[in-house]
Amino acid sequence: MKKNILVLYYTQTGQLEDIVKNIARPFENKNEEYEVTYYNIRLKEDFPFPWPSDVFFNTFPESYLQIPSEILPPPAEVLNKKFDLILFGYQVWYLTPSIPTISFLKSKYAADILKDTPVVTISGTRNMWMLSQEKLKVYLKDLKTQLVGNIALVDRHDNYTSVLTILRWMTTGKKEKSGMLPAAGVSEEEIAGSGKYGEIIEKHFSQDNFTGLQPELVKNGAVEIRPFLVRVEKVGNKIFTVWSNLIIRKKEKRPLLIKFFKVYLMAAIWIISPIVLVPHLLTTPLFWFKRKKQREYLQGINLK
Ligand SMILES: Cc1cc2nc3c(=O)[nH]c(=O)nc-3n(C[C@H](O)[C@H](O)[C@H](O)COP(=O)(O)O)c2cc1C
Repeated sequence: MKKNILVLYYTQTGQLEDIVKNIARPFENKNEEYEVTYYNIRLKEDFPFPWPSDVFFNTFPESYLQIPSEILPPPAEVLNKKFDLILFGYQVWYLTPSIPTISFLKSKYAADILKDTPVVTISGTRNMWMLSQEKLKVYLKDLKTQLVGNIALVDRHDNYTSVLTILRWMTTGKKEKSGMLPAAGVSEEEIAGSGKYGEIIEKHFSQDNFTGLQPELVKNGAVEIRPFLVRVEKVGNKIFTVWSNLIIRKKEKRPLLIKFFKVYLMAAIWIISPIVLVPHLLTTPLFWFKRKKQREYLQGINLK
């Protein structure tokens, strides 16, 4: 009997779709052994792309606080099948799994689809996905799935370059290199080469043994951890908690607060984050082992 593989994702620009399709290709190539089903999460009211700048920032409180929107029901071929493996694609919005991802996870469909099924998470983000993955791990645990692997593809340019290119891409749709700026997002080579991760997953799946899958993915470059970004994410989560709750509470002042938040966020990226960087670098020898342990944990699939 053929094994059923579900590839679940949401995408605005098509980047994540390209990634998950490449990773699923080794399964597609063995079509006598596997039946691959794709499920593209659809919202009743989708977000615009390119994003008008005010909508982009206005999405922050609901994104960060994980407030779901309504999704359209998954197709019958997804609802009526029991899957043997799920490749779970997602992207990060405001240091949190995106609203479409959260909306699916909080929907009445998620438990039936995910329960008792091994899951490999696959993200395509700018570069700050580490604490989102921790948030996602909690959902997957509550939904009684078994997280067996994680692949986190990012823009490998420095943090400032990727802020500039992602804002250009998200608000104008312009992804390609222009002027001094390189192309935005995960590099073409890395997207094209991501099939190698699919081969590793297929090998472990066919042997019915996921032990060793994550270390092998990591060895092949599936998860890079930059300790400084983890630090920025930790500080960012604290700040976002304050801002998101304030904006949600003060409904009548929302447009004004969103404007302040936008200015604050830009200042935080360009001014506060370099201030965080200096003590981070200075304390490198002091926290060497702590950071090494943290890196190993974040590269893994366990939940503390
Ligand atoms: C509203 C919004 C917020 C985002 N916030 C983050 C973030 O906090 N960290 C990150 O690494 N990427 C962030 N991104 C980039 C996305 O994770 C993703 O890479 C990009 O939107 C392309 O994904 P897609 O075409 O598959 O939808 C954000 C994108 C959007 C639209």
